[in-house]
Amino acid sequence: MRRAKVSIIGAGHVGETIAILIAREELADVVLLDILPGIPKGKGLDIAESSAAAKFDSHIAGTSSYEEISHSDIVVVTAGLPRKPGMTREDLLKKNASIITEVAKNIKKYSPDSIVIMVTNPLDVMSYLLWKVTSFSEKKVVGQAGVLDSARFSYFIAEELDVSTEDIAALVLGGHGDSMVPLPRYTTVSGIPITELLDKETIDSLIERTRKGGDEIVNLLNKGSAYYAPAQAVYNMAESIIKDKKRILPSSCYLSGEYGLKDIFMGVPAKLGSSGVEEIIELKLKAPELASLKESAKICKEKIQIALEASAHLMGGKGKVASSATCRGGRKK
Ligand code: LAC
Repeated sequence: MRRAKVSIIGAGHVGETIAILIAREELADVVLLDILPGIPKGKGLDIAESSAAAKFDSHIAGTSSYEEISHSDIVVVTAGLPRKPGMTREDLLKKNASIITEVAKNIKKYSPDSIVIMVTNPLDVMSYLLWKVTSFSEKKVVGQAGVLDSARFSYFIAEELDVSTEDIAALVLGGHGDSMVPLPRYTTVSGIPITELLDKETIDSLIERTRKGGDEIVNLLNKGSAYYAPAQAVYNMAESIIKDKKRILPSSCYLSGEYGLKDIFMGVPAKLGSSGVEEIIELKLKAPELASLKESAKICKEKIQIALEASAHLMGGKGKVASSATCRGGRKK
C-alpha cells in the first residue's frame, strides 16, 4: 500500500517538529523543504537516521527543490518569519505575504492536487492569500489555529480543575490572534459545560490567557515562537484528512455566507476528511459571540487587503491577484 505523502514547506522548529510527529507515527512519508541550503537535508537525514533506533519506516527526505513535493497528499506551509518579542503577528504581514506568494506559486506548479494546511501567521490572512494565488478549491486550503487555540484553552482548564486533558473538549472560533473567540458554553469536561464547573471570573481569566497563549511563549523563549503545540495541532488535522476520519476540528476555512461572513478565512468548526474541508458546521451563536466573530473578521479583511497588495508585486503587477473587493462571492471550484 502506498503511504500518504506530506510535504512541509519551511524547516524551522514548527516544520521539523511536524516532520518528526508524522514520520514517527508512520502517518505519511515526509518531504521537508526549505530554501536555506543544507538545513532541510541535514534535519531530514537526522530524523531518517533516528528511524532505525525508534523503529519506524516512514521515509523522510530534506530538500531545497520544489520538484520533490510533487504528488503530495498534503502540503503544510510553515515558511515565514517567526515573531520576536514585542512584535505582533501583524508586523509579519507584508514580509510573510511575499514569502507565501512564492510558496503558493510553487505548490500550484508542483503539487496541484494537494490539500494545503497553512500555519504561517497571520494565519487567516495567509490562508486566504495562498488560496487566492493557487486558485485551489476552497475545500483544499485550510488553516491551523483553532486546534492549537482549543488545545491551549483545554490545557488551562485541565490545570485549573486538576483533571485529565483527555476529558476536555474545547471550542475556540474566530481569527488566530487577540480577537479569537473562545466559546465556554461549547467547552466541556466529560460532557459537562465548564460554565457549571468554574465561575465566570476564572473562565474569563483562562480565556484571556488563551488569547495571549502565543505571546506567552514568545516572551518566554525570547527568540522564536511556539512549536510543539502548533505541530501537534497540524498532526491532528493531517491525520483526520489522511485517514478520512472526518473529525470536527476548529479550522480556518473559506466562508461564503456561513456566520454571515463572505470571502474570508476564519476559524469555524469543520469536518476534515479525504477531500479536505468537507463541511462547515454553523452554530447558532448568541449576539455577543457573533459580534466578536464579526469583529475578528473585520480585522482580518483589512489585513487581507494589505497582503494582497504586497503579493500583487510578485504576481507581475496590479490585478493579477484580485482583491477581495473585486471577487466577492466568487467561489473557486
Ligand atoms: C502561536 C503562534 C505560532 O500561537 O501563532 O503560538
